[in-house]
Amino acid sequence: MEINLISDTVTRPTPGMLEAMMNAKVGDDVFKNDPSVNALEEKVANYFGMEASLFFPSGTMANQTAIKLYTNPGDQLICDKYAHVYNYEGGGVSFNSGVSCKLVDGNRGMMTAEQVEQSINPPDFYHSPLTSLVCIENTTNKGGGACWDFDELKKIGKVCDNNNLKYHLDGARLWNALVAQQENPKDYGNLFDSISVCLSKGLGCPVGSVLVGSQELIDDALRVRKVLGGGMRQSGFLAAAGIYALDNHIDRLDEDHQKAKEIGEVLKGMRCIQKVEPIETNIIIFKLDESKISSENFLAKLKENNISIIGMGQGKLRIVTHLDYTQEMHSYFLEVLRELSK
Ligand SMILES: Cc1ncc(COP(=O)(O)O)c(C=O)c1O
Repeated sequence: MEINLISDTVTRPTPGMLEAMMNAKVGDDVFKNDPSVNALEEKVANYFGMEASLFFPSGTMANQTAIKLYTNPGDQLICDKYAHVYNYEGGGVSFNSGVSCKLVDGNRGMMTAEQVEQSINPPDFYHSPLTSLVCIENTTNKGGGACWDFDELKKIGKVCDNNNLKYHLDGARLWNALVAQQENPKDYGNLFDSISVCLSKGLGCPVGSVLVGSQELIDDALRVRKVLGGGMRQSGFLAAAGIYALDNHIDRLDEDHQKAKEIGEVLKGMRCIQKVEPIETNIIIFKLDESKISSENFLAKLKENNISIIGMGQGKLRIVTHLDYTQEMHSYFLEVLRELSK
């Protein structure tokens, strides 16, 4: 039994999902006549109560498209120091948009409205980059799957309105936050100018992300997606997986969250572990006491038991639960951890 907990992106399509893909009606989405892609885009836009949406091959491309549309070269966006758009999109903000990031020293990837306000450069002070965009991430990846307080998001929305800034949400794992916090997706649609969501993480699709926003934004996004090479042809096969996942894989995220909490409880009892970050969704970040065991040794011991987890740098390790992590694997993993702690 191989147990891969490095990310929730490692999942394979379930038999039901594969069947939906095999039966998909497809066209050519570059000509915008693929019925499955059109249906997915309509479904996701409705889910958030927004006007329109666009299917993308990746979350990175969806985020980068939004950033391109809201900024001009030389501008600055505000994000937390842990943000995916800053840390893990290959420097795309500067490569694609000629934009810099004002990094906020937030808590587990989350900033306060006050911190955002203080990070805005005065628009008439032409020596500084012009602040034009705020990017939020919910749940936070590097912050350990933390969920934002919706009231703080609303306060940041006010700061954006008052300062003429656009407001984008990187919602790669927004599904997890919605389930964990029992929130209404339409509240998010109401608040943000755009939201990117990933189908290929907790929802278990092989590929795909969706950018949601106003009709005008999505019309413009189509052009940027084209420039970035993101136009796909019979992508209805992939969109059908997305539709299946939206219908079948959202509510079950609770199971992933529950398993993550149970893993966290066992980790907390291990003498070689210094700290376990609070666990709200499917991501567990913890720090080893390196005087007792090095990260390399800990990873190697798990590997001997066919279990893979991943290092995050600075002595931190990450575990992510997901659709393909079964109850049987879970029991075995907890047993291995208990053995390791002896
Ligand atoms: C928070 C967050 N945003 C965006 C992405 C980018 O998604 P993709 O890998 O599809 O480009 C990821 C991927 O892990 C992510 O964790």
